[in-house]
Formats: sequence, structure tokens, C-alpha cells
Amino acid sequence: MKLGKSIRKDFPMYMDNECYKDQKLIYLDNSATTFKPYQVLKEINNYNYHMTANAHRGDYSLAYDVSTSFERARDEIASFINAEKDEIIFTSSATMSLNEIAYMLEDYFQEGDEVIISKQEHASNVLPWFNLKKKRGIIIKYVDVKEDGNILPEDLEKVITEKTRVVSLASVSNVLGYPLDVKNLVKVAHEHNCFYISDSAQEIASRRIDVKDTGVDFLLFSGHKMLGPTGIGVLYIKKSIEENISPVIYGGEMNARFSSDFSFSLADIPLRFEAGTQNISGALGLCAACRYIKRIGYDNIISHEINLKKRLVEGLKSIEGVKIYNETSPSSIVAFNFDGIFAQDAASYYSKFGIFVRTGNHCAKMLPELLDTATTIRASIYIYNDEEDIDRMIEVSRDMKEKYLDAFFN
Ligand code: ALA
Repeated sequence: MKLGKSIRKDFPMYMDNECYKDQKLIYLDNSATTFKPYQVLKEINNYNYHMTANAHRGDYSLAYDVSTSFERARDEIASFINAEKDEIIFTSSATMSLNEIAYMLEDYFQEGDEVIISKQEHASNVLPWFNLKKKRGIIIKYVDVKEDGNILPEDLEKVITEKTRVVSLASVSNVLGYPLDVKNLVKVAHEHNCFYISDSAQEIASRRIDVKDTGVDFLLFSGHKMLGPTGIGVLYIKKSIEENISPVIYGGEMNARFSSDFSFSLADIPLRFEAGTQNISGALGLCAACRYIKRIGYDNIISHEINLKKRLVEGLKSIEGVKIYNETSPSSIVAFNFDGIFAQDAASYYSKFGIFVRTGNHCAKMLPELLDTATTIRASIYIYNDEEDIDRMIEVSRDMKEKYLDAFFN
């Protein structure tokens, strides 16, 4: 299937956009969030227009149909990452999933136990651990990050000790974009009896995830970075672990019974981890996003992204004073700067031409300790971008050095 312009017909942001109808939209902020195709929106709307009832509660046919669709979505999402249905827990986001893991593991830590992360992690894979450091006295260690964003199993080997309990890493960084060798990192973690947590929020849009093959213990992602809706996330927990941990959020449907003598028992897995009414339309929309990606095929997505990245990198390199931070990373992200232009000013300049990129530290606020800059311009490519987008971005970039102050202030 041809990507780029030919699939824009599936995306209302291109086809039916009241706000941007007079402007050519060059959206290159897909690592922040992706556009949603009609197929996803149709599922969400169908639930809200025609199929509204709560899941797992009512004893009438509409409620039964909703419960069946909700569980079918869980099933399809599980097989999308080669997990078992019961290993999939719905959350509100990748951030929520990471926070839940940290709370779930809180009692497992003794003072002086270690958690290994890296300095390129997103805030949501840093601050929950910093919080546990404060509460439980755990020690946080950083594994080395190579210049291109890769993390090598042998470098993990250097920092892991018999005190390490958890290794938690983004499988693809949201700034440098390097896809880690998760399988071999997991191997090192398991040889030292540690849990391995894979933050795959940035990976799932572009690369096939197979939890059985890599052996990760926990994995998480959000819907909105993979063509799905906001407000829905997934937390995968390996079955053998899931059975031994307690939920962190309590309420309706996660319990089997409770009574006034303070006794209570929990519902079966996975519902025991899903207190309260769930984001049902979100789960259905996310399932539709998985189907959409499956239809396109990951090989197709990766080669499209890498071809466009190559084109953008080559173009930017031909401009004097451009520094690219992740040229060798085989991904959809180009992180760069112009000598003498503040990244946020560059974003405003691009915006004048309908080119939307993200600038700043991208919530990875320790990464500047590894790069020689506090902020970068991040262009992140996805399936609906094409050569014209890239060429226009290069053209505007070329003009920026001389003209940006004029264009920005006039
Ligand atoms: N985490 C998102 C990003 O990288 C929002 O932009």
C-alpha cells in the first residue's frame, strides 16, 4: 500500500479541516501525537451515537453487546503485541501505566534497592521513580546512552548489581528515536533477577512489538501516538507477575465482594486492575487503530519513515550551521538545531509556513546533560507525510538563517 499523500483520504485533518483549510498542513509532530483516521473516529462515534451502555455491569442486551465489543478490543490489542488477553490492562495513558507500575511495585522495594533508568527517559519514566526514592529510599542509577541514543546490553551489565530490582527504559526515545535491542537488554535484566519495563509509547506506531519474543515483564503505550484516541493507554503485565501483584486503584468492578466487616475480595484478572468505568470508546478506537496499522504493515511504515528521514537529513545537512543530533538513528525522528537560532524561534518561523514541529526538551529534561544543548527542534515523520512535506521543510529551513528575524517579527 502506498503511503504519503495517497492515504490522506483517510484523515479528516487533511480532508475535512475547517481550521486549516486555507493552509497546506505540514504536520511533523507525530511523536507528540498522531492524526486519527476516519476508521478510528467511526468506532468512537459508533459507541457514543449508537452503542452507549456501560461494560461489565448491565444484564440487558445493549450492555451485553458493549461488554462483548470491549473485550473483543482487548483481545485484538493483545494479539497485536503477541500477549494473552488477560495480560492487557486498560489505563488512561502511557504516563498512567508507568505510574501504576511504580505504585504496584512500591512494597516490593527495600531501602537501598536499585532501579536503573537512563538520562534520555521521558518525565513519566523518571519522576515515579524519583518519588519512590523519596518514599522508600531506593537508589536510581543511569545506564550509559550512546551518542545516537542507543543503549547497549553490555553497558547495562556494567551498572546492574545484585541490589537492582527494576530496569525501566524507553524502547525508542522520544527525542533521539533509537530502537533499543530490547530482547538482549531483557536478558541481562533477567540474568540478575530484575523486572524489565519497556516504555514503548514511541515505538508502537512504527515497529512490531512481540512481548513473548522480547520477554519484557511490563510494557506500556498510549493510543494517541499510534493513530488512536487520547485518554486510552495500555499496560501489559506478564501473567506470572500479574498474579502476584495488588491493584493500586480501588472501586467498582475490580472487586468480587465487600462487606461491613471490612473484608473484601478482588475480581479476576484483568478486571481487578481496572477500577471504575473504563474509557470504552477509547478502547474501541485503539482497537481500530491497531487494525489500521496492521493493514498498512509495519515494514511499509518503517521504510516510508526511514526514506523520508534520509531525505530530510540530507537536505538539512546541506544548510550551513545545522547540527543534527541523531542522524544515524533508524527512526522517524530528526532532532536538530540551527547555529545561532533559538529552537523555539525556529518553531515559530516554521509555523508561519504551516510546518508544525516540536521544540524544547520534549519532557526529557535530563537529556541536555548528554547533548550539548538544552533544547532541540524535533521533526517527527509518519505515514501521511510525503516528499513534498520534507522538501518544503528543507526549503524553509534554508531561508531561515537570513530571514527568520524579519519573518518572525513582521
Ligand atoms: N511525549 C510527547 C512528546 O514527545 C508529548 O512530544
